[in-house]
Amino acid sequence: MTVHFKNLDIPLNFLSVEKEMCLQWANNVVQGITTPLKLRNRKHSIINHSITNNDWETIEKIVGHRQSRVLRQRSALMWREFGLVNRIVIDQYDVPEEMVELIQSSMFNTYGIPKDECMPIVQIQNGGELLHPHHGHARKSSLFCLLQGEDEVTKWYRETKPFKVVDEFHIPDISKLEVASENVLEVNQWLLFNHQEWHSVHRKGDVGVRINLGIDFKTMNINECMEYFK
Ligand SMILES: [Fe+2]
Repeated sequence: MTVHFKNLDIPLNFLSVEKEMCLQWANNVVQGITTPLKLRNRKHSIINHSITNNDWETIEKIVGHRQSRVLRQRSALMWREFGLVNRIVIDQYDVPEEMVELIQSSMFNTYGIPKDECMPIVQIQNGGELLHPHHGHARKSSLFCLLQGEDEVTKWYRETKPFKVVDEFHIPDISKLEVASENVLEVNQWLLFNHQEWHSVHRKGDVGVRINLGIDFKTMNINECMEYFK
């Protein structure tokens, strides 16, 4: 059976200093204060925010006329499916090297997970109500801890019929998916998160900033990860 997520019994003091610092930095980022966090995929982030703001001029400048038209069509299809909701945009950040090393050491010393498997990531989500069904491009699984935010539902899907996925966009055929499981993430509850399966994120309103610390695994899927947390 496919495991979509697994809540773990990890003590509150695990990476507590690192969690606190990441949360502080992330809140500073939101307020426009400079921090050691480094935004990944700047281009991708600009495109994402521009789609939300309906700023097709900026998108066309980055990806060109043809690609921007495709993106526009895809977005229109998504609006049609889910209604006029505010898209959730998640920005991903690298933590400074010293902190990467601290986290990798804790992961190895506490759970025996090889250091080079563990890549920390901070994710900031400022507003938005819906992140449409998608799955991970490279990562298969991560250890995930919500630092701030509430009442958000993550849903995972199973395919009822096979369908083709256009590589570049990873947008599913929603008519061939059904919800398989769902979970409301809680602050400070570590869990294993399966990124390989289709999943979506839902919020009741377009409120507040949501921040999480993740440790993405380089090669392991969720089943392999679970072995380390028995
Ligand atoms: Fe995701």
